[in-house]
Amino acid sequence: MNITVVGAGTIGEAISVALKNRGGYDVTATRRNVSKIETLAGLGIRVSSKSEEAILDADVVILSLKPYDVLAFVKRNARVLAERTTISMAAALPPISAMARYTGDGRLMRAMTNIAARVGGGFTVFCAPPGMQEREKRECRKILECFGEVMEVEEKYMDALTAISGSGPAYILTVMEAMMYAGLKVGLPRDLALKASYETILGSAKLVSESGNHPSVLKDLVVTPGGVTIDAIYELEDSGIRTAFMRAIESATIKSRKISEEIASRDP
Ligand SMILES: NC(=O)c1ccc[n+]([C@@H]2O[C@H](COP(=O)([O-])OP(=O)(O)OC[C@H]3O[C@@H](n4cnc5c(N)ncnc54)[C@H](OP(=O)(O)O)[C@@H]3O)[C@@H](O)[C@H]2O)c1
Repeated sequence: MNITVVGAGTIGEAISVALKNRGGYDVTATRRNVSKIETLAGLGIRVSSKSEEAILDADVVILSLKPYDVLAFVKRNARVLAERTTISMAAALPPISAMARYTGDGRLMRAMTNIAARVGGGFTVFCAPPGMQEREKRECRKILECFGEVMEVEEKYMDALTAISGSGPAYILTVMEAMMYAGLKVGLPRDLALKASYETILGSAKLVSESGNHPSVLKDLVVTPGGVTIDAIYELEDSGIRTAFMRAIESATIKSRKISEEIASRDP
């Protein structure tokens, strides 16, 4: 199957590599400044600056352009995209029903992954248009599985999921960096502080995923009465860590909705 990834920037490049290495697909990656993705050719990925031509050979087109550019690209290439399955990876798009007037019913799927797709550790959510055939939906799911875990969701959840899992690596990497700096403050060597931080985040996520237990149940196993951990938890609660996360994710959700409304209002 030929897949053309239009807009091979941060996410587009990551997913092109995952599609080639993990799915064995025939992949073409495009962007205007093609010199920035020349290294992809060494991985067996075709690179091109001519997106309009590259989508002609594609069975499936993946759009990883900025949200504002997606609608413009879809409008310019409506006829070609109406004959192909298209997966948009952009945040904050107008609803699928609004895009359908260009792509045709059942052709454009929305998905949201994250940067961990690069190593097959992404979490990708998708919503399929009502008219999409089951066979096409299964093919799209298989494509998205190259990036890691996949879940179908209702479109009304896309903005919130963009804020939690699409942007999420930035929050967790901030936490990881903060833990590493704390390690430096108490005298650990840099490499050891970083390894202790990321292994702990990795292991904690695995514990939740494999045990199926709520994080608070697992957390209580670590927080012993009068022990070391409760002193740290006291400091974290005092600095408002939970409300900080809730505010951050709520704010990102609102921003995603706002951009989506702006794009929709610019579209005549
Ligand atoms: N970054 C993330 O972690 C993340 C996570 C989840 C979802 N997303 C979504 O993924 C999308 C892309 O984000 P990104 O962070 O990867 O942005 P990005 O790095 O700016 O990538 C977008 C790419 O599109 C290319 N482009 C622009 N116009 C084009 C055109 N007409 N034809 C072909 N290529 C074109 C640009 O390269 P040229 O200027 O060289 O053409 C650029 O490299 C966004 O919609 C975002 O919401 C991103």
